[in-house]
Amino acid sequence: MTRSSNSNPAGNTTSAEPRRTFLKSTAAVGAVGATNAFLARSAHASGSDIIKVGLVGCGGRGNGAAKNAMTADPGCRLTAIAEVFYNRMEEGKKQLRKSLGDQYEVPDDQCFTGWEALEQILATDIDVILLATPPGFRPAQMEAAVNAGKHVFCEKPVAVDPVGVRRVMAASEKAKEKGLSVVSGLCWRYDLGVKATMEKIHSGAIGEIVSIQENYLTSTLWLRNPQPDWTPMHRQVLNWLYYKWLSGDHIVEQFIHSLDKAMWLHHDVPPIKCYGTGGRQVRTSTDYGDIYDHFSIVYEWADGTRCFASTRQMSDCFNETEDFVFGTKGTAKVLANKISGQETWSYEGKKPSMYDLEHVALMNAIRRNEPINNGDYMCKSTMMAIMGREAAYSGQAITWDQMMASEMKLGPDKPTWGEAPVVEVPMPGRYRFTET
Ligand SMILES: NC(=O)c1ccc[n+]([C@@H]2O[C@H](COP(=O)([O-])OP(=O)(O)OC[C@H]3O[C@@H](n4cnc5c(N)ncnc54)[C@H](O)[C@@H]3O)[C@@H](O)[C@H]2O)c1
Repeated sequence: MTRSSNSNPAGNTTSAEPRRTFLKSTAAVGAVGATNAFLARSAHASGSDIIKVGLVGCGGRGNGAAKNAMTADPGCRLTAIAEVFYNRMEEGKKQLRKSLGDQYEVPDDQCFTGWEALEQILATDIDVILLATPPGFRPAQMEAAVNAGKHVFCEKPVAVDPVGVRRVMAASEKAKEKGLSVVSGLCWRYDLGVKATMEKIHSGAIGEIVSIQENYLTSTLWLRNPQPDWTPMHRQVLNWLYYKWLSGDHIVEQFIHSLDKAMWLHHDVPPIKCYGTGGRQVRTSTDYGDIYDHFSIVYEWADGTRCFASTRQMSDCFNETEDFVFGTKGTAKVLANKISGQETWSYEGKKPSMYDLEHVALMNAIRRNEPINNGDYMCKSTMMAIMGREAAYSGQAITWDQMMASEMKLGPDKPTWGEAPVVEVPMPGRYRFTET
């Protein structure tokens, strides 16, 4: 069982209508255009107008991202696929053929499996690569993609450790130098209702921000039953969510969506420190690797504001996913797109799919030769999430400067089937954060 690729992380509904005014926006999301308006502009794409797209990771999100890219621009074709498992590749091909129709143009010799699949897909003539594997592999993939001169759609989170984040930061800078676009899978940055709410808050609708509460209280996710013929590495890669070196833990893999909004509210200025708690109460079996099932973290900024951030993955409990922003003149609920207090406001505009809009922004940038680069916030928000994880694991207060200097690197450089990293559930007070 996988999460639906197009599922909105907080379960909001979306419609497919465009909003033309956003065509002019050149802010954080660059040249985001309305889906239909862009479709009309690029409807004549043919021959050299074709944008060739390669997909890495044929899972729920990867297949969804391929569909979003094709929807964003009828001149896009999926022309190559890389997937570590042969059977998942075959299943993915079937689904993609069906969902992409004529935009599926993947010959068999452009389908690559195994650990070398990334290098092989990068050697093809694709223009854009969609990176949608478990995030532990992302830094190496991102670096290689930029070195190979490809535009990148990079799913969140971008890494699982500080060394990985800094590698992606460097690759994002290199992309700028090479005129390549980098678009992040932090999809809420592209949601028109969330974006409008952020604009209201930033223009003073609730006064000065005093504090933020981020809740991502949700149920458990999928688990594949380990099979007798799986090696330890199969066991970890197939159930990657539960291994810190592959997913970063759920505070990084999932809660990043909320922490990114706290970062956005601070104009992408990172917190100076954090501390907090966490643990595993329900998912205690070894099938669940080494991750926690709940975290509660306090982030502090230099301006004195704080973010109280809680996430939990447990079934049959109270669920709530929302960003509450408390200001001197009112409060906001970012996901609900509502403001109350001295000013009352709610977003009434259209809500095209934010997943499509990410790819509209990417394809617009490529076609107009106006590169877009989401590298800054996607890296900082990943680091913020890792910082919270390390604070909870260690039981210590951790600073941003410590994160930026940390030499922590999880997972093998070159994974192979067979043996896998030995994992241990971190115990606060005993676990040590790797500073240098
Ligand atoms: N933006 C969002 O709302 C959103 C939603 C879901 C998932 N995601 C992110 O997308 C990524 C993928 O998640 P998913 O739910 O699709 O997982 P998934 O397990 O369904 O798919 C991942 C695929 O990658 C393959 N893979 C693993 N290692 C690989 C490697 N080294 N090379 C090539 N292929 C490899 C797997 O076999 C699998 O088919 C994760 O980073 C996740 O956090 C984002």
